Amino acid sequence: MTMRFTLGRAVHTALRDRGHQVVTASRKGADVHVDITDPRSIRAMYEQVAQREGDIDAVACAAGSVPWRPLAELGTDDIRGGLEGKAVSQIELVRQGIAHLPAHASYTLVTGILAREPLLTGSVAALVNGAVEAFVRAAAIELPGRQRINAVSPTVFEESLDAYGDTFAGFDAVPVARAANAYVKSVEGHRTGQIFLVE
Ligand SMILES: NC(=O)c1ccc[n+]([C@@H]2O[C@H](COP(=O)([O-])OP(=O)(O)OC[C@H]3O[C@@H](n4cnc5c(N)ncnc54)[C@H](OP(=O)(O)O)[C@@H]3O)[C@@H](O)[C@H]2O)c1
Repeated sequence: MTMRFTLGRAVHTALRDRGHQVVTASRKGADVHVDITDPRSIRAMYEQVAQREGDIDAVACAAGSVPWRPLAELGTDDIRGGLEGKAVSQIELVRQGIAHLPAHASYTLVTGILAREPLLTGSVAALVNGAVEAFVRAAAIELPGRQRINAVSPTVFEESLDAYGDTFAGFDAVPVARAANAYVKSVEGHRTGQIFLVE
């Protein structure tokens, strides 16, 4: 089963319903093209959106991919790929955002329950989620102006259970709308350096 924008679509709906003007960005099928693993593409996205829409008040990232593979079968490319696909990419959104976004802007990144609950085949996901959460806590004290940063760390979504099969057996799934609501809390809630658990 191919997943497309499971979390991103819910975040879009939640923010739009709160009256925010939302510009979507991804590699294909969004308002703006971006590949978050390519720093030049991130720069082009920020420039294009700023030119078209003016100031960007909040960045809400719901992308990121990691390999799922038994530890004994992991190659170094898998580990590097996971770090690039979900950690370095999201950190680059923030690093470049410092120069492109106004003093009041916020960043909301995505991690996941594997940062705190291990699962078979999920060691790279655990590594990457933990790395992003540590970065969020550290970056919060260094961001310029009043810029803020938080992460949303959900358990598996009800909408994704078919795709993950038995991988999350015994976990209580949540509707993806609950994770989207945590993005609203991050964008509107004045808090920073927080990991919002959704489980
Ligand atoms: N699904 C769950 O149960 C669950 C639970 C906890 C955490 N999470 C985390 O939530 C995030 C989103 O998961 P999801 O289930 O919503 O995935 P999804 O349905 O596959 O959607 C992710 C979207 O991100 C975009 N994307 C992926 N790589 C990108 C890149 N390099 N640059 C720009 N856009 C990219 C893709 O669009 P394009 O192909 O158009 O680029 C894709 O449609 C992931 O980090 C995942 O680990 C998911």
